[in-house]
Amino acid sequence: MYLSRFLSIHALWVTVSSVMQHYPSVWGHYDVCKTQIYTEEGKIWDYMACQPEATDMTKYLKVKLDPPDITCGDPPETFCAMGNPYMCNNECDASTPELAHPPELMFDFEGRHPSTFWQSATWKEYPKPLQVNITLSWSKTIELTDNIVITFESGRPDQMILEKSLDYGRTWQPYQYYATDCLDAFHMDPKSVKDLSQHTILEIICTEEYSTGYMTNSKIIHFEIKDRFAFFAGPRLRNMASLYGQLDTTKKLKDFFTITDLRIRLLRPATGEIFVDEQHLARYFYAISDIKVYGRCKCNLHATVCVFDNNKLSCECEHNTTGPDCGKCKKNYQGRPWSPGSYLPIPKGTANTCIPSISSIGNCECFGHSKRCSYIELLNTVICVSCKHNTRGQHCELCRLGYFRNASAQLDDENVCIANVCDNEFLHCQNGGTCHNNVKCQCPAGYTGILCEKLRCEEAGSCSSDSGHGARAQGSLTLLVALLGITGPHLF
Ligand SMILES: *[C@@H]1O[C@H](CO)[C@@H](O)[C@H](O)[C@H]1NC(C)=O
Ligand SMILES: *[C@@H]1O[C@H](CO)[C@@H](O)[C@H](O)[C@H]1NC(C)=O
Ligand SMILES: *[C@@H]1O[C@H](CO)[C@@H](O)[C@H](O)[C@H]1NC(C)=O
Repeated sequence: MYLSRFLSIHALWVTVSSVMQHYPSVWGHYDVCKTQIYTEEGKIWDYMACQPEATDMTKYLKVKLDPPDITCGDPPETFCAMGNPYMCNNECDASTPELAHPPELMFDFEGRHPSTFWQSATWKEYPKPLQVNITLSWSKTIELTDNIVITFESGRPDQMILEKSLDYGRTWQPYQYYATDCLDAFHMDPKSVKDLSQHTILEIICTEEYSTGYMTNSKIIHFEIKDRFAFFAGPRLRNMASLYGQLDTTKKLKDFFTITDLRIRLLRPATGEIFVDEQHLARYFYAISDIKVYGRCKCNLHATVCVFDNNKLSCECEHNTTGPDCGKCKKNYQGRPWSPGSYLPIPKGTANTCIPSISSIGNCECFGHSKRCSYIELLNTVICVSCKHNTRGQHCELCRLGYFRNASAQLDDENVCIANVCDNEFLHCQNGGTCHNNVKCQCPAGYTGILCEKLRCEEAGSCSSDSGHGARAQGSLTLLVALLGITGPHLF
């Protein structure tokens, strides 16, 4: 028992090492997945996680405004300069291209002077709140890699919530609150990302950092991705391995930076004062010149390429995975549960390649001698486990030590491996054959078969009448023995 266990382990090891010789490129699989990084020396290849390059994701989104008719200019209206209620010579007219401010202008090329921007209607219905939802949808899970930056053309709003969805807009969670007075607006204590720590990084905060009045020059609002990364990777994001290690093990952290949609909820425009100047409501509106969202397709670390085809982003999955996010194993590759690849490279990380299903291996691969297969990560290969019927080997295609291949049996035959073929007590070689080392009957000329039980010419199908004589003679002998009532097990 112990011996046979030892033997099968030994056989396994032999198999593993011989397989290794056939798969020298296994280590190379992971190298397919490399990322381009920017260092002080320039752009270099980094052999890390298997993921697409980060890019400007605003090229791939759909934008939706609520209320739908909130964009200014239909009908045309005049608005005043924020800082000066008596400068009301600006006009918004949707039907005149130079005076129109459609939503697309939030995503166009920046750097033009004067800048182009989306603008809402003015707050003429005060005190009814002027609220606008700007929903950005990718129809694809994406992972944020840099700060979300929103540049306002007018003052930054007094109150705003950035929300995110991870399920294509079915449910929404707040990402960050922004207000000139967090306590008043949202009953939250004001905080900044710098007040957080590794342990509180997932906390949703209200910040007053970006909501100071329109008098200041700053027009920008951030959602700080990099400051959050820095809690793991260090202030200059030098230790990305530490961040990747965390992302590999903490799903919540990974999900925090993952979105399918973003929603900017503008709740109250900049007023710059405590009281709203009811005489000049045309001073109050929202205007956004730019939105930056940097990220990459989420491919669960199973793809380096994400394509935009038919207005849809999708990962070009490797490692025998499939789905828009490479979120499952391909058909016939479900030999173990799907799991994402890891950020860290070998030896700490793994590609978590999907492996062939047992059902697709079928009986043939283990020749019916085992129903269990095991995946050996190191070799990226599948081997049969606990081969029965005295077989061994990756496919149970070899005989265990002390057993020999039964030449007259097929590989899937239960009798393919046979113990000591002959001995002088029970298993006699027939027709005058002699037992050689208990392994082989040495047959006299004219006879063959494991126990010399067959006529050689019979096997070749060429028995002449002369050699057929011997067979007939044997037949008569059998008859004679039967008639005489003598039996001899050794005879046949
Ligand atoms: C904006 O979206 C929120 C849900 O995220 C919803 O409760 C609110 O009514 C929407 N506001 C407008 C103006 O559509
Ligand atoms: C399965 O994955 C391996 C490694 O990535 C690859 O070489 C092979 O072509 C894939 N097979 C299929 C059918 O996709
Ligand atoms: C060899 O295999 C054949 C075919 O299954 C079988 O009939 C025969 O008994 C086997 N020989 C021994 C010695 O088991």
